[in-house]
Order: sequence, then structure tokens, then C-alpha cells
Amino acid sequence: MPPHPAIARSQVLALRGSKIREVANAAMGRPDVLPFWFGESDQPTSQAIRQAAIAALEAGRTFYTHNLGQPALRRATAAYLTRLHGRPIGEGRLAITNSGVSALMIAAQAAVSPGDRVVVVDPVWPNVAEIPRILGAEVAHVSLRPGPEGFGLDLDQLLEALTPDTRALFLNSPNNPTGWTISPDQRQPILERCRELGVWLVADDVYERLYFGEGASAPSFLPLADPDDRLISANSFSKAWRMTGWRLGWLVAPPTLVERLGVLLEYNTSCAPDFVQAAAMTAIEAGDADIVALRTELAAARDHLIAGLRAIPGVTAPQPAGAMYAVFRLAGETGDSLALAKRLVNEAGLGLAPGAAFGEGGEGWLRWCFAADRSRLDEGLARLRAYLGG
Ligand SMILES: Cc1ncc(COP(=O)(O)O)c(C=O)c1O
Repeated sequence: MPPHPAIARSQVLALRGSKIREVANAAMGRPDVLPFWFGESDQPTSQAIRQAAIAALEAGRTFYTHNLGQPALRRATAAYLTRLHGRPIGEGRLAITNSGVSALMIAAQAAVSPGDRVVVVDPVWPNVAEIPRILGAEVAHVSLRPGPEGFGLDLDQLLEALTPDTRALFLNSPNNPTGWTISPDQRQPILERCRELGVWLVADDVYERLYFGEGASAPSFLPLADPDDRLISANSFSKAWRMTGWRLGWLVAPPTLVERLGVLLEYNTSCAPDFVQAAAMTAIEAGDADIVALRTELAAARDHLIAGLRAIPGVTAPQPAGAMYAVFRLAGETGDSLALAKRLVNEAGLGLAPGAAFGEGGEGWLRWCFAADRSRLDEGLARLRAYLGG
């Protein structure tokens, strides 16, 4: 045994592996398994966006760009957000990142130090909680609570959890996995509390366009906050434009922080690929028609899947207000969603994500991504019914 074992530092050893991956990696590519475990559409990116990348490559756009992204894309994204949220968002608040997850990492690196207390609202996509842990933060959880109308946030509980020694709050709305979406009147008290205590509010807004309520986007903190508030919004081209494989996202941050984000970007990825940014320009400039169509499609898929799940005896399936997932539970199955998800893969050929992957508040639930063709959803429902003996 060498005197110094060649292993990662303690925070990295302590990271949880993704339980979604634990289920999926064991069965990926198996023809007998219908996969609904990942959060992406089963349709490729639109032709116009793909063509823009091809044209950019043909034009030789294969070089580094500015750390913060192409000025034209920063400008276009700022104009898009200004239109969407009805409050001016200057391009000086924009940083283009190499994905939504990279946006979250850069935001965390800018705001969180080792030993800091960070509050995360769960159940939530595992990366949101693990990123501050990688940086050595102590992560406290506030869990959304299931109800017949969907999951809900206990606002008082969250405000109490924001103690004077809290450094940051990571809040994902619309939420992966539950579809919970913050209500307009819950925003101001959270923002006020963060202001009062100097807590950084890191809003994970990647599903803001995939919202089934009123308006063009889910309620956001951007229209409420002043540019100098400690608010960082992390966003992505992945979901609204079906661009998961392109790895492009952005941050909106106080102008006083953006120069430092550029420095952090230099030491993480240096910049996003130029031809991918060219494709994103087309995505943003093409306007909203594709997003509106996607949202209509997802709303119909949601209604279809939730009705199908609720028609199965013993299944509880709250209505998601946004994102692209249904969470549901089976009567009598209160714990160990990981074991249940593995049984469903092996005995029913149905690939779902275990709720335990999303933190304590997710245990007992299963997540089903409904960004899929109707016939695939029906086949999945048939497999679930057959598994349950119906
Ligand atoms: C809540 C949430 N945030 C961020 C992301 C990151 O998306 P990407 O890295 O593809 O931009 C995802 C992807 O599933 C997500 O579910």
C-alpha cells in the first residue's frame, strides 16, 4: 500500500453517483427496454438550427471566442430575455456557458466557498445539490410536499431555512422532477429574505419556457430583481430548443459579477464552441413558434400520460405545472424507488428514473419523461399495467 493513496479528495469521494445513471447505464441500448429515464425530447433539433451550425462550420468558424460568448449572441439573448420578462436585461449581465449544468457550476464557483451553508429545494435534479458539495459547501434541504394538485412549497419553511449564515439558495422552477412551479406571490418574500441576509439566489430557469400555465414563461425572479441584486439565473438551450447534445447555456448575473464569470469561464472551458453559438443565434432569432409548438405538444403529452397513470388502480400521479416529467407512486411502494426502478426495467422493460435520485423528498416516487411520441407513452403505460397485473 503506498503511503499516499491515489484517490480523489474527500468532497469528491462523498459525491453520490447519479441513481438515474445507475438504472440507465445497466440497461441502455437493450432493445426490450423503453427508456423514459433521461430529460430530453425524442425528436432531434430543428433543421434550421442544424443548418446554421453546418453553415458556420463550412465558413470556418472553428476558433476560440470571447470568454463570455460571442457579443452578438449575448446581445440577442439579452434582447430575448428583455422581451420575455418585460424588464430590460442588458447584455452586460449575460455570460454564455457550455451548457446549463456548466452555468450552475460557474455560478456556484462565483458564490460558494468551502464550508458555506447552501439551501437546496428538493426533490431536484441531482446536479443542483451535488455542485455546491463539490465546492465543499454544506447543503441543507427543504422538501416540496406532494398534494392532490401537485407538489407545493412551504414558503415559511423555506424562509426559516434561510438563516443568517446561509450563503446561497438554489431553486429550480419549473422543477425537475416534480413540475412544481413557483407561484408569482412566493417570489417577493424569497427575494426580500435573500436581500436582507445577502444570500445568493441561484435560480435554475432551464424549464422556464416549458410551462403549462398562463404567459409565455413560468414566473421568474428576473422581472422583480434589480440588476445589482444577488440573483443569478442559470439557463440553457437544451430544453426549449431541443438542443441537449449541443451543450450551450447562459447566465444572467449582476453586471459587477460578469467580468469575474468570464475569468471563471476561462479556467473551466475558456469559451463555448463558435459554431454552436452560431446555431444558438438562429434558435433565438427564429422567434417563438417552435417553442410554442413544443410546449403545446408537451402539454398534450402530459395530459395523456397523467390520465393514463391515474387510470391504473393504486397509482398516484400529481399534475405537473411545467417541465417535461410526471412523477408518480404505486400504492404499497413507499420506499426504495431505486430497487423498484430496477425491477421495472428488468421485469417490465420500462425505463424510469428513481425518485431517490432527486434527494430525500423524491424517495418513493418514480419519474417519467413525457417528451415522447404518443405511441411510446402508450406502450409504456401498457407495460406498467401488465407489471401491476392489470
Ligand atoms: C433542473 C435542470 N437544470 C439544469 C439542467 C442542465 O441542462 P443542460 O446541461 O443540458 O443545459 C437540467 C438538465 O436536465 C435540469 O434538469
